[in-house]
Amino acid sequence: MTITLRSFAKINLGLCIGPLRADGFHELRTVYQTIALHDLVHVRIARGEGIEIRCADPRVPLDSSNTCFRIAERVMAALGAKGRAVIEIEKRLPVQGGLGGASANGVAAMLGLQRALKKQLTGTEQWRIAAEVGSDLPLFLIGGTVLGIERGEEVYPLPDFPATPCVIAVPEIGISTPRAFADWDLRISTNALTQRDPSHRIKKFGHELSAWLSSQGLGSKSGPVSGAPALRRGRVGNPLLNLVQAGIANDFEQVVFPQHPELFEVKCALEQLGAKYASLSGSGSTVYGLFGSRAAAEKAARSLKKRGIPAHVTSTLTRAGYWKRVWVQG
Ligand code: C5P
Repeated sequence: MTITLRSFAKINLGLCIGPLRADGFHELRTVYQTIALHDLVHVRIARGEGIEIRCADPRVPLDSSNTCFRIAERVMAALGAKGRAVIEIEKRLPVQGGLGGASANGVAAMLGLQRALKKQLTGTEQWRIAAEVGSDLPLFLIGGTVLGIERGEEVYPLPDFPATPCVIAVPEIGISTPRAFADWDLRISTNALTQRDPSHRIKKFGHELSAWLSSQGLGSKSGPVSGAPALRRGRVGNPLLNLVQAGIANDFEQVVFPQHPELFEVKCALEQLGAKYASLSGSGSTVYGLFGSRAAAEKAARSLKKRGIPAHVTSTLTRAGYWKRVWVQG
């Protein structure tokens, strides 16, 4: 039997890069948000042994460097499973686009394999395997709005936001995440950035997020805290837009935009076209805009396409919406 799953993409609602750690990763704070754009992942167990990855997109590796491959070998071993794991990826999301496409494929493969094998990993094993394979895999085990800390792999569900219209602009530029991190370090070391030291900045991001959570009435029974007037004002609106307008930003913009000014132009265009908030996602090259209505998002996407920029209209996905739509077949 073939199991088919939607592997939904994510965007980052703010991303703060902290100090470089001894293990070569950076301390990170980010809010992930799943969106309705997705790839399809088909999983089945065939006769024989080993792992086979299929994908018609030539940019997707089919060898052991593929996230699905790395997940599959761990899942098969952990379950003591026999047979040949065949995983086919129907690629619709950009490759190296900052949308977590490969990571989402990996988690979909992990879920699909368990169902195909009729065997279940323990919760702890799932989390361990996801975090081992990549920093932004575990978020896809939660879905919706998710806080990411440590290197991004330690994740906590945040309260669900209402689905919000969104334009995803996918300029045809591939950006390497390790390279973007290295460029960030270079800028930090040469003092080219105007911000304070990385630990201070990461604390500030945490404070902004705490203030926002409190403003949503989640921090105390008595409601919003004082000292967050902008957030308090925003309570009447869409809480997702209130969060991003609270001042959280994506640090990667500071290294990616100078190298690819056309991406900064896309962000400006989205803002001019009425986005309530626009930002680079992850290390890019995807730039997204959040809109007040579907009609406004569609108009903006049409305008971007006329300028030759590939753009999709979609929506953010609540946790409930994510889990309701993950399984297509099987
Ligand atoms: O965890 P993942 O495989 O997605 O990370 C890819 C690369 O991105 C890492 O090898 C590292 O160079 C960089 N990275 C980092 N700090 C993080 C996450 C990723 O430096 N928090």
